[in-house]
Amino acid sequence: MEQTTAPCRIDPLRLRSLLGPLADRFSIEALPECISTSTQLLERAGQGAPAGSLLVADRQTAGRGRRGRSWLSTPDASLTFSLLWRFEGPMARLAGLSLAVGLAVARGLENSGVPGVGLKWPNDILLEGGKLGGILVDLETVPDGMLAVIGIGLNLRLPPAGEEEFLHPPAALAQLLSPLPERHELLAQILTDLAAVLDRFYEGGFAVLRGDWQAHHVWQDRQVRLLDGGAVDRQGLCLGADIDGALLLQTSAGIERCLSGDVSLRSA
Ligand code: BTN
Repeated sequence: MEQTTAPCRIDPLRLRSLLGPLADRFSIEALPECISTSTQLLERAGQGAPAGSLLVADRQTAGRGRRGRSWLSTPDASLTFSLLWRFEGPMARLAGLSLAVGLAVARGLENSGVPGVGLKWPNDILLEGGKLGGILVDLETVPDGMLAVIGIGLNLRLPPAGEEEFLHPPAALAQLLSPLPERHELLAQILTDLAAVLDRFYEGGFAVLRGDWQAHHVWQDRQVRLLDGGAVDRQGLCLGADIDGALLLQTSAGIERCLSGDVSLRSA
């Protein structure tokens, strides 16, 4: 029997036309399915794929989340993509990059009419207290600098309830918006904001974006507990992020810095 494959939900030509003058900065590929847009793009980066390569997939069979978790993507429910960006200079120049990306996604959502988008250090995207999306940045050193594969997953609709326990339950755009934003328009807006934020980051680092990031940070100036491996590690007043992206915590011992790692925030 002839097998029919559903058409991919992203049409690269339509996305290009929506990107207008920015279109030439991106090289777009859309797939109905892949293992992980980030894993696949990392492979292509190794084969010389240019900065601005974008891979969008309707479904990932082995999508990766932070801290070794998996990340599911299903065609109707998710927007799942990875973007390759190249930077000159040492790794230290990329400190705070994943926070900057979070800010760009928040701006892209806001510019698409989504109200109340929040960020949670280091790079969760929240909506009404639930997790709307996540960001995973893979970094590699290359002969002329660094490359970053920026992976972004957003829930358009709520994923089916599983048995997992979440620090933040999943949230989805469909909870707030009806109809949902058209996915090409949403993706074009996020890419537009990403390009602008990455340009600013390239010139001034996270320092020039920190104020806006903190304005979106849901735990800013609140008492928090830092968990490491499930146990309370530190507790204090959240002062926001340092210019290198480290979390700043006012504790009884003074201001402590916490680098991105195995930590989660909870309200104290
Ligand atoms: C997180 O755990 O919060 C980060 C999730 C990042 C998921 C995205 S989906 C697109 C890209 N491809 C992957 O395999 N992971 C990222």
